[in-house]
Amino acid sequence: MIVIGCDHAAVNLKKAIIEHLKEQNIAYLDMGTDGEACDYPDIAEKVCNKIISGEAEKGILVCGTGVGMSIAANKIKGIRAAVCNDCFSTRYTRKHNNANVLCMGERVIGTGLALELVDIFIETEFEGGRHQRRVDKISALEK
Ligand code: RB5
Repeated sequence: MIVIGCDHAAVNLKKAIIEHLKEQNIAYLDMGTDGEACDYPDIAEKVCNKIISGEAEKGILVCGTGVGMSIAANKIKGIRAAVCNDCFSTRYTRKHNNANVLCMGERVIGTGLALELVDIFIETEFEGGRHQRRVDKISALEK
């Protein structure tokens, strides 16, 4: 299950991502906004709570830049959110950081690239091994 959310600055990108997930029969939960102005930390919290509760495995948060969403999401224990604008970072934030939230900015990247990043984020597995030790150290910082 993928959980997705956006603020008013990224409604069109969120719609495109949802269509893309539907085409691939990937189950998703949409936590808003449907278009009304909102504060991105509220949406980040709703999306991340679905991951922490185990209802969703990964999340996608989009706003104008992706940055505000990532800052908010990373305040939540157990969340590793990465703002990505390129394929390499997206692939390696899965392989090495075990990122569980992908953040992107509708005002930063085009829809075609964003959909490619979504696919990479969903398909790429965490490598574990020495990277698990490092991710564990990130978790230790939360205490
Ligand atoms: C909203 O105007 C904008 O600040 C927000 O979408 C995001 O870019 C924040 O990081």
